[in-house]
Amino acid sequence: MKGVVLAGGLGSRLMPLTAVTNKHLLPVYNQPMVYYPIQTLVNAGIRDIMIVTGGNSAGDFLKLLKNGKAFGLKHLNYTYQEGEGGIAAALSLCEDFADGAPVCIVLGDNIIEGNICQAVRAYRHQGGGAKILLKQVADPQRFGVPEFEDSRVVRVEEKPREPKSDYAVIGVYMYDAEVFEIIKTLKPSKRGELEITDVNNAYIERGEMTWNELKGWWTDAGTFESLLHASRLVAETGANKMESVNANHA
Ligand code: G1P
Repeated sequence: MKGVVLAGGLGSRLMPLTAVTNKHLLPVYNQPMVYYPIQTLVNAGIRDIMIVTGGNSAGDFLKLLKNGKAFGLKHLNYTYQEGEGGIAAALSLCEDFADGAPVCIVLGDNIIEGNICQAVRAYRHQGGGAKILLKQVADPQRFGVPEFEDSRVVRVEEKPREPKSDYAVIGVYMYDAEVFEIIKTLKPSKRGELEITDVNNAYIERGEMTWNELKGWWTDAGTFESLLHASRLVAETGANKMESVNANHA
């Protein structure tokens, strides 16, 4: 399985912090934000990793991360996303890198207390399709939100006004190579982006989606509130530590 960290975008919700640098290079407590998603992949045994970046300071990722020595890696791959096409558009740049293998994607501003080893193992046994990770939250309107029938996820809605559950789809996704064919069929959403939620709904319609619930805290860090919250959580308890998913669900 290969890994992808999506660290492009303009970070407009964090202006002026992002006026001269990329959101994912900002500090979260004592490390640059992008360190946390890379560590999430490495802790799950994924060592072949692509960083998708963009904007004006893309070269700074190379200066900061080099060949990934800080994570015990010998090599890192980099690619550049022009403009703001959305998460699925950023992922589409990784088709050649994936080369038919399944991929685990972590959004560059998603930080977790634990690790995703068990979910990655379960996904490997599943033999294809997709897996999402869910976390109960107080403000589901900010996220992709699953709708359940019994324990099955039957649909994901992106930032719904009236959420059908109090779970968020966190920014960790596992897909087989079909994902690149699915992305080619997507149309831009109202905000002009190719949405990862549409990718997830395509897998749900095919009956090829499973999910796990994440244990331990999870946060994004793309707004002033969540960036501060992320720093506090990391300072208080540390990130990327314990085992953090429960049983597998179809
Ligand atoms: C994105 C996804 C959303 C997901 C969230 C997790 O939202 O579109 O489905 O729940 O990441 O961080 P964005 O951060 O682009 O608003």
